[in-house]
Amino acid sequence: MNIKTNSNFKNIKETYLFSEIASRVRRYQEENPGAKLIRLGIGDVTLPLPAVAVEAMVRAANEMGRQETFRGYPPESGHEFLKKAIADHYTADIRLSEIFISDGAKSDIGNLVDILGNNKIIIPDPVYPVYVDSNLMSGNKISYISGSSENGFLPMPDQIREDGAAVIYLCSPNNPTGAAYDRAQLTKWVEYALKTGSLIIYDSAYEAFITGDLPHSIYEIEGARECAIEVCSFSKFAGFTGTRCGWTIVPEDLKADDGTSLNKMWFRRQATKFNGVSYPVQCAAEAVLSGEGIRQCMRNIAYYQENADMIAAVLDEKGIYYTGGKDSPYIWLKCPGGMDSWTFFDHLLGKAQIVGTPGEGFGEAGEGYFRLTAFGTHENTKEACSRLRELL
Ligand code: MLT
Repeated sequence: MNIKTNSNFKNIKETYLFSEIASRVRRYQEENPGAKLIRLGIGDVTLPLPAVAVEAMVRAANEMGRQETFRGYPPESGHEFLKKAIADHYTADIRLSEIFISDGAKSDIGNLVDILGNNKIIIPDPVYPVYVDSNLMSGNKISYISGSSENGFLPMPDQIREDGAAVIYLCSPNNPTGAAYDRAQLTKWVEYALKTGSLIIYDSAYEAFITGDLPHSIYEIEGARECAIEVCSFSKFAGFTGTRCGWTIVPEDLKADDGTSLNKMWFRRQATKFNGVSYPVQCAAEAVLSGEGIRQCMRNIAYYQENADMIAAVLDEKGIYYTGGKDSPYIWLKCPGGMDSWTFFDHLLGKAQIVGTPGEGFGEAGEGYFRLTAFGTHENTKEACSRLRELL
């Protein structure tokens, strides 16, 4: 062929982090067919969907099978019934025209680069790899601000060296570190964005795990409507990793340097490249935001939080430094004995048959750290904890 490819792909790692882990685990399993693996790597849920979601999907599927209630394409940015349920879920005032339903936070985070030009990009390190990869794929240059045990893995604007406007990615509670910004810290970020004319892309996919008095949404902070897009998901809150549904809020107040509305641009982008989420899934998403739906989801989250407590207890016993596990399903620990992340990955897999995620996969500042997820079953997590107790 004589076609050219996007040469920016040369700047990203050859395989996506979780694909790399999956292929290493496959190899290990081939070599050790009898091994009983416990998977605490990718943050995938294990509990089945809440009953309200299943009931809503069945009802909607039946509607789709009857002439009188059949529906074709959904509205570009989602059904109004789901947008209303999402707007009601926020304490801040969010207009329905500012809500965009999608197949999940990952797609939206990856696609937002489509509407943004050549900006300075600031990304905390370590962080969810999609922020970095999607910007590198678009040829953007990234400045990193490091998390560390000194700042509790919560980088702040005073770490930014360059002046002027930037697109800043924040994730709170953070993936992978589980650390979450408090109100004062998030206020500093919003003030910084307003002062410099920056845009914050705020990933709140793990907000349902917050137990303390911390902001669940950036719109709880005054001024955020003028500087922030928020991306959220039903994946971790309602177990939708395989069902696929999320949403993005693009406030109408967001205006670029030439006055262009980001809300209008995102609508245009989605209308062109995305045909919406299926009706049964949107009905299920609406159902989990009802009073009973939230109760069922929170029961599942409490179950995962018990897993996090079990893992944290082992690390406390062993005196190993960690963050997360309290307002997050992730526990971010310092690799014991000064091991680097991938060495500890192999050690844990080889000696205890536990799969985790090496911190280095989330950025340079993650080297020497390791992420375990609380999304396993109680049984597997208990077994993993006893293996960890022996090994560490
Ligand atoms: C993770 O393990 O970091 C997440 O499951 C990835 C994702 O949500 O896409």
